[in-house]
Amino acid sequence: MALRSSRWFDRNDEVGFNHRAALRSEGFTPHSFQGRPVVGICNSWSELNNCNLHLRAVADAVKRGVWAAGGFPLEFMTISLAEELMMPTAMLYRNLMAIDVEEMVRAHPLDGVVLLCGCDKTTPAQLMGIASMDVPAIVVPGGPMLNGRWRNQPLGSGTDIWKTWDERRAGQVSDEKWEELEGSISRSAGHCMTMGTASTMTSLAEALGMTLSGAASIPAVDSRRYANAEASGRRIVELIKENIRPSHVMTPAAFENAIRVLAALGGSTNAVIHLIAIAGRLGIPLPLSKFDELARTTPMIANIQPSGQFLMEEFYYAGGVPAVIKELLPLLYGNELTVTGKTHAQNVQDVECFNTDVIRPRSRPVCEGSHLAALQGNLAPNGAVIKISAASPHLQQHTGRAVVFEHYEEMLQQIDRTDLDVDENCVLVLKNGGPVGGPGMPEWGQIPIPSKLLKRGVRDMVRLSDSRMSGTSFGTVVLHISPEAAVGGPLGVVKNGDPIQLDVGKRRLDLLVSEEELHQRMQTNRPQPKKYRRGYYSMFLERILQADRGCDFDFLVGEPGEVPYEPLVGRS
Ligand code: FES
Repeated sequence: MALRSSRWFDRNDEVGFNHRAALRSEGFTPHSFQGRPVVGICNSWSELNNCNLHLRAVADAVKRGVWAAGGFPLEFMTISLAEELMMPTAMLYRNLMAIDVEEMVRAHPLDGVVLLCGCDKTTPAQLMGIASMDVPAIVVPGGPMLNGRWRNQPLGSGTDIWKTWDERRAGQVSDEKWEELEGSISRSAGHCMTMGTASTMTSLAEALGMTLSGAASIPAVDSRRYANAEASGRRIVELIKENIRPSHVMTPAAFENAIRVLAALGGSTNAVIHLIAIAGRLGIPLPLSKFDELARTTPMIANIQPSGQFLMEEFYYAGGVPAVIKELLPLLYGNELTVTGKTHAQNVQDVECFNTDVIRPRSRPVCEGSHLAALQGNLAPNGAVIKISAASPHLQQHTGRAVVFEHYEEMLQQIDRTDLDVDENCVLVLKNGGPVGGPGMPEWGQIPIPSKLLKRGVRDMVRLSDSRMSGTSFGTVVLHISPEAAVGGPLGVVKNGDPIQLDVGKRRLDLLVSEEELHQRMQTNRPQPKKYRRGYYSMFLERILQADRGCDFDFLVGEPGEVPYEPLVGRS
């Protein structure tokens, strides 16, 4: 099969001359790049992204492998999305990064791509982009950072900080302790080391078949991270020759495998949105009901924070994703092809679990029943999600009086007021945190418990919003309510004092007012006027889909592959 890069380099005209001359200006001879698979190393390294800070070194290891296998590596950068430093939220830019990845590959003489990711949104953005481009690709995750450690206590990214922040708001954590924690939580490069969104998404990249087996959970600073990168560099050259493309690997069955692995990991609710978006790029529909259906019959076996006890280092030492896949095999499509060229069943044939407290057998799950549920009701006609494994059992069937915040700033101003009319049985409601309302659907969904209740020992309440929450968060938190308030969803008509009923067992979320009353309120419920009129924000508000459709841009769904190619003879 002719290499894609031959369109650039194997031409006997002025255009071919210029393409070859461009690489020769970097000091390469045609022997290096002509007739060899050209491998793009798509790097999300950035000094603005601490989680991905080691990816330049990982790229060097990939290059070793590519050279060794007879390929020609070329590293390039895209935008990077840092969860902790981007405002208002990295999610606002996930689709922009996906476009960056797709179009960089499309525009350049690349036969295949190795994708270097880590921090939350970088993994789905790369998978979305490469699904749309559909050239051979392997994901090399950067891996989790070292476990947090403070005074000989383990500290989990996000999860332990949310807990300590509540204690501090209750007046129980000193300035000194708080300052020490700041220096102890993130001890190395690498992504968050709980089963937050980053660990979930890299694990799901593996479950989808897009990484070498075992790649997801190797710690960022472990030498085996670099060995994995080198092996991935070798393998991408073979993948190009075999013409195994993302659409051959990320099939409908592969997405079902990923949803089951998500459930088994007790993974992030954000993965629901990302999987829908990645599948959407390949024209594969993933309704919320599919997540609910598969979660009901998949035991949660990974005992990792925030739903469990341990951290990602222990998960890796216990056997990582391959051990989870092996344990789940009777529930999976084990014959699905992966980028190793083998099936999942073949990949994990000799895999063992080395710690059954961390990765449990199916017969002894971490929690009984589903880890996640998709809800419906008159408050969420197109659905909502709740992470059952991180919610309080006593609140999963609950009716309470709504305490409504029209937007995030109002919530921040009011939540700690001593005169806020709230008790532990109330339902906290946050509007306008969705894809359009945020904009970008920020992680505002874990609404803080009012401090006057914290001081009385209350640590969880029913909370609902059209927003997301961090994968490291926890609580009885209903998320992703769709359609969102800002586009005229019924969440927008909830008033203070309205009774709201959550029934996780029945998968229901309802506003308990009469049908006539709800109908009347909806008559005057209008989408909010668009807040931004220029640039990326404007396009985002115009073209973003709702959470139940993956928050992708409508014009990027489906139709993967090359656009018809007509080489241009233009020069600057
Ligand atoms: Fe990057 Fe958590 S902040 S993964």
